[in-house]
Amino acid sequence: MIEQINQLRAEAHSQIFSAPDPEALDRLRVHYIGKKGVLTGLLHQLKDLTPEKRREMGAVLNEVKTNLEQDLKQRQTELKRIVLDKEISGASPLDVTLPGSYAINAGSLHPVTRVMNDVVQILKRIGFSVVTGPEIELEFYNFEALNTPEDHPARDMQDTFYINPPVLLRSHTSPVQIRTMKENRPPIQVIAPGKVYRSDYDLTHTPMFHQIEGLMVDEHLSLADLKGVLNYLIKNLFGTRSLRFRPSFFPFTEPSAEVDMQCIQCKGSGKDCRLCKSTGWLEIGGCGMVHPNVFKSVGYDPDRYSGFAFGMGIERIAMLKYGIDDLRSFFENDIRMLEQF
Ligand code: DAH
Repeated sequence: MIEQINQLRAEAHSQIFSAPDPEALDRLRVHYIGKKGVLTGLLHQLKDLTPEKRREMGAVLNEVKTNLEQDLKQRQTELKRIVLDKEISGASPLDVTLPGSYAINAGSLHPVTRVMNDVVQILKRIGFSVVTGPEIELEFYNFEALNTPEDHPARDMQDTFYINPPVLLRSHTSPVQIRTMKENRPPIQVIAPGKVYRSDYDLTHTPMFHQIEGLMVDEHLSLADLKGVLNYLIKNLFGTRSLRFRPSFFPFTEPSAEVDMQCIQCKGSGKDCRLCKSTGWLEIGGCGMVHPNVFKSVGYDPDRYSGFAFGMGIERIAMLKYGIDDLRSFFENDIRMLEQF
């Protein structure tokens, strides 16, 4: 038996070290030391020997098994090295230009960003330039200079986020009007897009949202110019839609109006329409002619200059444009909602 074992050992050794690839090596492992392998067969035969012989041969067989396991391991390392050498030397057909095994998902612009970009692009075409102002503002720019009296509800701590009076988070983009007028002389034709903050949270209000402010100041501007600009904007954003100007009040404009757009759902008929609550109109922003007190606060002569301003909520426009009914869904970061844009 010992001879048989020695022969087996020599044969296995030479076969293992000439195995050409990992698959062949694995077949040898199964053949020699697998559950139904040659070595296991020999171990089974031990039961026919005398106890003394059995112990002796058992020890020999176990040593052979350990040896073969070492051989297999060594050859496995060698084969890995051979494959790697081949790849490095360029001899293996490794194509580094093949696509990877998983795709990288392409992102897309947030619907609010898209609408903001659209509005900016449209207004730039008719001569508006973009200006910005700080989100952390002073009461002076957010209220005082905008003719907003001390007892105005927006000035209440409950409505506006104060950091440390007079420092606050701007509650609208209108303070950029003041900053722009202070730093420039007419003619002025600017838009100010950006984030604004209010202490609000429900279906149609979030503590942070986006507005775009428009301001034009020159010597002979009238309400007709304001209407022309807003008509152009809405026509380019939504296609042909009539606008309606409803008398309203803002401290920094006189006269003031709220702008309504013909409902995109019922096309203005108002028939059983939930979107416009059957009025046929959708509110899209506020506007008006710049109040003389605002001009005075920035050192402009109100008898010489006239101007108009408007402010719109971007989320509101995005909701109308894409038929989104819950404002909060813009900020929940749910990829199933966002990847539709
Ligand atoms: N700032 C106003 C708001 O947040 C919106 C607004 C109204 C802006 C009239 C204007 C304007 O420029 O003329 O409610």
